Amino acid sequence: MQQQMKAMVNKAYGPAEVSQLTLVPKPIANDNEVLVKVHMSTINRTDTGFRSAEYVISRFWSGLLKPKNPISGCEFAGEIVAVGKPTSKFKTGDKVFGFTTSNFGAHAQYLAVAEDSPVAFIPDGFSYSQAAPLTEGAHYALNYIRAAKIKQGSNVLVYGATGAIGSAAVQLLKYFGARVTAVCATDKIEIVKGLKPDVIIDYEKDKYFEQEHQYDLVLDAVGKSSFSEARRVLKPKGFYTSTELGSFAQNVFLALITPLFKGKTVLFPIPELTQTDIIWIKEIAEQGKFTPLIDRQFTMDKFVAGSRYVESGKKTGNVLLRIEH
Ligand SMILES: NC(=O)c1ccc[n+]([C@@H]2O[C@H](COP(=O)([O-])OP(=O)(O)OC[C@H]3O[C@@H](n4cnc5c(N)ncnc54)[C@H](OP(=O)(O)O)[C@@H]3O)[C@@H](O)[C@H]2O)c1
Repeated sequence: MQQQMKAMVNKAYGPAEVSQLTLVPKPIANDNEVLVKVHMSTINRTDTGFRSAEYVISRFWSGLLKPKNPISGCEFAGEIVAVGKPTSKFKTGDKVFGFTTSNFGAHAQYLAVAEDSPVAFIPDGFSYSQAAPLTEGAHYALNYIRAAKIKQGSNVLVYGATGAIGSAAVQLLKYFGARVTAVCATDKIEIVKGLKPDVIIDYEKDKYFEQEHQYDLVLDAVGKSSFSEARRVLKPKGFYTSTELGSFAQNVFLALITPLFKGKTVLFPIPELTQTDIIWIKEIAEQGKFTPLIDRQFTMDKFVAGSRYVESGKKTGNVLLRIEH
């Protein structure tokens, strides 16, 4: 008889309550796959976004009428317990972390992933708790940074520096040599100082889009601004990008139209993460250049409360999900 495991299962799209702790068949490692015993995952805005399907467009990836991959979860850290075929990259006992949005499935005790997917050895000195949140925020941030062709000396404003994406963006931008201005609330200033931006703006006291500075990139990491506000502080050929579609999905349309005028431009890159990228994330983590912010931890029996907290828009960095065995 096939072995069973515990997993968070979404049989339908909907609010946090649709996620149910369920016994499901334990996966096996097929050819060119590895089977990971998951010890730590995260609950993040990608998980909650695909579960709620608040943007109908996400259903084109995840299933039109119901989730085609009902086990949620995209970030994981754990130990390899089986390999499909003798593989050159990984072996049983290796500690790995990774990102899986092709099939999701990380909110489970076991997860099978392709050995050439975004999976890498856990950075030296990192625990499962520190490794699990290395990918989700960082990969969005990296996509924006690449799309805007950020280089040494670029001047960047990160609006919403305390989310998973914003806190990763500040650190990655500093790694690439940008001059970073981070925008956050008064009570988050001490946390943001730890990310080492050049300037911090308190959005409760100062008007971030009405200063005289000019930026090469305004990265709205919480999707609460608009191009029309941000363009005031953009250089003549500066870029604006946001984590949200904006009202009437304007950021998508502006990303198609603004490049035609060769002035201030909106970017809306489609995110991707390769194994090469995740190995790079591992390396900069080992160099101490990127440490994910961790807010709090939930267990699978408190998963619904964890999802609600993530959806409140109030988390600081990342929320962990401990997977017990
Ligand atoms: N649909 C999807 O698949 C998907 C996937 C990933 C991310 N996203 C989007 O990406 C965005 C970021 O997600 P995330 O996980 O990185 O972070 P998040 O959970 O949305 O960010 C929360 C943080 O942003 C801060 N914040 C809230 N309002 C702010 C404001 N007006 N100015 C500055 N900071 C503000 C909050 O602190 P304070 O309230 O104390 O300021 C909190 O620390 C969200 O809009 C999310 O919907 C969407």
